[in-house]
Amino acid sequence: MLEPDFHVYAAIKGLRVVRNFTDRQLSADDLEAILDAGRWTGSAKNRQNWAIVVVQDRTQLDRLAECGDFTTPVRNAPTTLVPVRLPEAYEWDMGRLAQNMMLAAAARGVGSCPVTFHREQDAKAVLGVPADHGARYGITLGYPDFEAEREARSRSSMSGRKSLEALVMRDRFEG
Ligand SMILES: Cc1cc2nc3c(=O)[nH]c(=O)nc-3n(C[C@H](O)[C@H](O)[C@H](O)COP(=O)(O)O)c2cc1C
Repeated sequence: MLEPDFHVYAAIKGLRVVRNFTDRQLSADDLEAILDAGRWTGSAKNRQNWAIVVVQDRTQLDRLAECGDFTTPVRNAPTTLVPVRLPEAYEWDMGRLAQNMMLAAAARGVGSCPVTFHREQDAKAVLGVPADHGARYGITLGYPDFEAEREARSRSSMSGRKSLEALVMRDRFEG
């Protein structure tokens, strides 16, 4: 069991995507810590029906970037993780895996951004993923380029969240 920890709560609430990175590759320690956080993610019936492809080869990263419509973060980042959905994996579990790795990354000073491979079949072909597995999303990782990030955020309209009032319903769905 975990002791109550204000920092964990602050990290969960404060996590924001990072799309601008320095060229510096992740240290081996940071990468392993992030992957190990993923490894410890709970899954339905503890099936762990997943694998993670670590992509750091620039040619492979550029190929992957071609597989989605908003993949600039893949081009900007030195590393992209591709969580592979094994047969019978639940989407719920895949989301937990991704979020745990993003939070672990933040805890190590590593920025991250989920990306969608809209042409999933192409992404699977790039990575050699079998037909009955899934590879719909990636997570870009790198050390944040804070100045570029601040500049991009000042131009972006995509931020904030719905209010609790708009989100939460009591006892029955309303709407
Ligand atoms: C399933 C999923 C797919 C996403 N795909 C992309 C993507 O293809 N490209 C991108 O730049 N951001 C992508 N994002 C990041 C979202 O745009 C981001 O989570 C959202 O704007 C909130 O950002 P914030 O937490 O920094 O406020 C994706 C996020 C999720 C959860």
